[in-house]
Amino acid sequence: MTGQEDQWWRHAVIYQVYLRSFCDGNGDGHGDIAGLRARLDHVESLGVDAIWVNPWYESPLNDGGYDVADYRSIHPLFGDLGEATALIEESRRRGIRVIADLVPNHTSSEHAWFQAALASPEGSVERSRYHFRPGRGVDGERPPNDWQSVFGGPAWSRVADGDWYLHLYDVTQPDLNWSNQEVREEFLSILEYWLDLGVSGFRVDVAHGKGKHPDYPDVGGVADHLDPAWASGGHPTWDRPEVHEIVREWRGVVDGYPGAILVAEAWVASWDRLARYLRPGEYHQAFDFLFLQSPWDAESMRSRIDEAVEATMSVGATPTWALSNHDVVRHLTRYALPGDVDAGEWLLGGDRGLLDLRRGRRRARAAVLLTMGLPGSVYIYQGEELGLPEVHDLPPQDLEDPVWRRSGHTRKGRDGCRVPIPWTREGSSYGFGTGRSWLPQPPEWGRLSVEAQNTEEHSMLHLYRSAIDLRRRLLGADLTFAWLQTEADALSYRHGEIVSIVNFGSRPLDLPDGEVLLMSAPLEGGRLPVDGAAWIHAPGHVSQVE
Ligand code: NOJ
Repeated sequence: MTGQEDQWWRHAVIYQVYLRSFCDGNGDGHGDIAGLRARLDHVESLGVDAIWVNPWYESPLNDGGYDVADYRSIHPLFGDLGEATALIEESRRRGIRVIADLVPNHTSSEHAWFQAALASPEGSVERSRYHFRPGRGVDGERPPNDWQSVFGGPAWSRVADGDWYLHLYDVTQPDLNWSNQEVREEFLSILEYWLDLGVSGFRVDVAHGKGKHPDYPDVGGVADHLDPAWASGGHPTWDRPEVHEIVREWRGVVDGYPGAILVAEAWVASWDRLARYLRPGEYHQAFDFLFLQSPWDAESMRSRIDEAVEATMSVGATPTWALSNHDVVRHLTRYALPGDVDAGEWLLGGDRGLLDLRRGRRRARAAVLLTMGLPGSVYIYQGEELGLPEVHDLPPQDLEDPVWRRSGHTRKGRDGCRVPIPWTREGSSYGFGTGRSWLPQPPEWGRLSVEAQNTEEHSMLHLYRSAIDLRRRLLGADLTFAWLQTEADALSYRHGEIVSIVNFGSRPLDLPDGEVLLMSAPLEGGRLPVDGAAWIHAPGHVSQVE
């Protein structure tokens, strides 16, 4: 394959599998690779091009597996290497690629390198793979600087001999030192290892991390690296120039495997900053978190779409859309809350009366047509095709996310979007496994199961399948995109042969002329209802070549 054909990711639909919560193949209450293999029919029925599997490596699971103890082995909870290669093979036979998750900013504190560092003296080669520093104050009793952990609290912890080590996340996630040559070589070898096993690339965790200012300066007043104050770079820990140099080095390996891609999870201050990750020779894709975070509002959605399309295309890349993932409040719940309510804060004990799940569901359905019609690639987070809401009332004793603990219970964390998904109407964990699931599922989830939705003509599941199918048949690799004139509180665009229209306003809208291909909700008196969306066929359009 050459050229466009080989650039499959530019218009792909990719399904995100949070393994632990997808399907439990051995009845221990935790999802695993065997469970995923058993449910590949479901993945295939969606019509997706690839799956991205969250970290499956050996790990104490202090941060859902983003604390890797051994990058070359599979956690026994999830299976083993044989299971992983069988998954890759079976998926390939169905035309589905597997993308692994690479975690290069930090290891687990149980990684052999960190254990060796702890057992070695200050200034040793073993410690130089991480960021060990002396503390401040007379006896070095204060952390080396004011850097804070993303999960809350200081980013430094002290070891027995008095040295401090850096962890921008949990204390069990020490940051690697990327100016160390051995670290760089090790990751080139890890990339090769998984590519040889057949994965089609990597979603790269914290792609904006890795680089650290060599002088470890205080960050000062504006610590939040997403603050516009940092929009031109210069933060001591995030979005630093080194990260670009590193990914260019990785491409030297990845490009040896046709079709393999690198996907950046990069939280940066602006679209201009993100586009830098997509320059030729860097990442193939970068998630658009600005779109993901947009409130349900025509103007905001439109400007974020514009920015993404413009910025990606300015560097020859394509946008990468997602509405949810394992780190954010599920979008159905976000859209069910009033626009001025921060969903993360609301989780902590906000007024439950504010939640209007019917509205959330209407909007989530419309969002399928808004997003799937756009040029570029779309990621689906497992369970969104079932219209799962965030589980906001998990009992505190069940919460596992380190965010909950490290923030001193001032942030609820991400467990509520990671609850195991329902497969059947009945059963102790609705077909997820044979017994209890590691996080409890709400009683009404049987109705949202794959089994229930398979037989419902207008289910969310069918909407996803239809949208993906139409998108594949009518849009292909076409990138022609233009906004169309419509009411102020609506959005309408044309992409290839599809005209998509979404009603964000408060009264029904007239539909444009043409054959209706798909609707998120039934028409009301011939008009598009509030929070509804439709796709109209616009044939005769001459596709432009990418
Ligand atoms: C981003 C991952 O998606 C998240 O789940 C994790 O906690 C952090 N990176 C740290 O690895």
